[in-house]
Amino acid sequence: MCGIIGIASAKPVVSNIINSLKKLEYRGYDSAGIATFSDNCIDEAKCEGRVDRLEKLCSKKYLQGTVGIGHVRWATHGIPNQINAHPHSNEIVSVVHNGIIENSTILKKILEKKGYKFKSQTDTEVITILLSENLKKNTLVEAVQKTLEKLHGSYALGILFKDSPDLIVGARRGSPLAVGYGDNENYLGSDSYALKSMTNKITYLDDGEICILKKDHTEFYNSKGKKINKKILILSEDKNNYDKGDFKTFMQKEIFEQPNTAKSCINEYLDSLRDEINIYNFPWDLQKINSITLVGCGTAYHACMIAKYWLEELTSLDVIIEIASEFRYKKNKFKKNNLYIFVSQSGETADTFAALELCNTNKMKTLSVVNVIESSIARNSNFILPIHCGAEIGVASTKAFTGQMLVLYILTLKIAFLKKDIAKKDYEGKIKLLKKIPDLIKKTLSTESELESIASVFANAKGSMFLGRGLAYPVAMEGALKLKELCYVHAEGYPAGEMKHGPLALIEEGIPVVVIAPRDKYYEKTMSNMQEVISRGAKVLLISNKSKDEISSDNIWKKIEVENTSGELLPFLLTLPLQMLALHAAKEKGCDIDKPRNLAKSVTVE
Ligand code: AGP
Repeated sequence: MCGIIGIASAKPVVSNIINSLKKLEYRGYDSAGIATFSDNCIDEAKCEGRVDRLEKLCSKKYLQGTVGIGHVRWATHGIPNQINAHPHSNEIVSVVHNGIIENSTILKKILEKKGYKFKSQTDTEVITILLSENLKKNTLVEAVQKTLEKLHGSYALGILFKDSPDLIVGARRGSPLAVGYGDNENYLGSDSYALKSMTNKITYLDDGEICILKKDHTEFYNSKGKKINKKILILSEDKNNYDKGDFKTFMQKEIFEQPNTAKSCINEYLDSLRDEINIYNFPWDLQKINSITLVGCGTAYHACMIAKYWLEELTSLDVIIEIASEFRYKKNKFKKNNLYIFVSQSGETADTFAALELCNTNKMKTLSVVNVIESSIARNSNFILPIHCGAEIGVASTKAFTGQMLVLYILTLKIAFLKKDIAKKDYEGKIKLLKKIPDLIKKTLSTESELESIASVFANAKGSMFLGRGLAYPVAMEGALKLKELCYVHAEGYPAGEMKHGPLALIEEGIPVVVIAPRDKYYEKTMSNMQEVISRGAKVLLISNKSKDEISSDNIWKKIEVENTSGELLPFLLTLPLQMLALHAAKEKGCDIDKPRNLAKSVTVE
């Protein structure tokens, strides 16, 4: 998704902007651009496609400016092409923008009536024109404020001004923006990750704030235009490894990191000497909490679905799960004894963040389960439980999903124990079993070659289905999502027992169907549902867990058995073959595995 970089320095900035834009590439984008001052005018280079292309373009144009802004764009208004790429500049200002200006069509009409002409199809260009109009009669800060007042929607902005060539203005509402401090240079970034190679001193802008950056000076204003002081945070050292190592893709590397990332997460939360969970100091009295709402998007939502089964099984709490983009706009009953849990790898997903802000406005108790601890969602929740899985670069979430499930399971156990819903003996027994999960993940990953050998069937099918019951149902949903996003094949995750109420009509000769049937209380039922699809021609890949009882069912096309553990913990293992299946199907089809088309790692627009 879109990313912003700005640098005000004493030396030329283009190569550093390009390097920082490369750090933002993992988010997913379709065009890139840069603007600096050269010979007293704003000079830009923009192109459709990758930052490498922009780099070549910049070297030909010899951009030499010491103050500049850069952007990677993920198209929202207007197709991905050179004209719609940011920055959007005229003779007076140059603007890069993350977010969506919701009233851009109305503003455009008003400006067109005044005689302004638009070059692009973007919502951003209205900001460029409004700024240049407001600059005619106002000071720089006033002109920025007057412009921002007119905008509906969300934005993080980086702006250059021809008449103030030594500075960059930043502003945010809804979309995150950070300022970084260097040696005789200062930075603007849509996240601190992009700035990490240049500085670990960061200030996060809050909604409505404006900043002005010069090479040796920064200043901040609140939404009323009053100068304010902001805290500088020192970010922890980044120990992440951003190298693919011996793997061809980040996704494959991240799948195979799971034994280690699961271990790190377990080490963070489970006591190594006792069977105890080291989560203390909840900022609220847990005894008073009688219901939980879990909120997330995509894979994070699937983790919420799984957690609902756990929480309902092990605690006395009422549990609701919500898709963030729905929750944020519907009428919700905010109850003071409800705990709201926000699950997000990036911690920047716009819909999840807006749902959190809605809860904050209503003074609710909020907890976030995130990977990026400096993220907006983490910073704005009452309590954070990080998943400790290291940077996830592949757009398809794999190790973060496992991390989200782990933290949610650990939290479930802790709540169940503190609320006396489970006995100490059971609590300790479950912790003991959980400690074994990293090893079982490692063993289950050895099924890769079997999955690789059948992946072409899924890659070349016109569609497929993923079925499960109980905990295996959200696992099936996640498996289908992985195949869709990586392999561009229609895949539907469905509760196995619901097939006869409609989707069974989709089953025809040769359609590949993944049936996830662990040996739990649903096993017999799921096996019957499997026979219903087999008898209608489906090619079934059965995923179950090892057991002393053989799988007796007939006509199963392929079987994969994951390691054995308690039914509750099986989602940690059942998910792995599905991740590997999607990876190899995408490879078979020649898809861009780490950057699937149309998608972004950090979904910062709604
Ligand atoms: C997962 O493979 C997806 N790329 C996507 O569904 C993702 O989980 C979703 O966009 C939520 O992201 P978040 O965890 O960063 O909030």
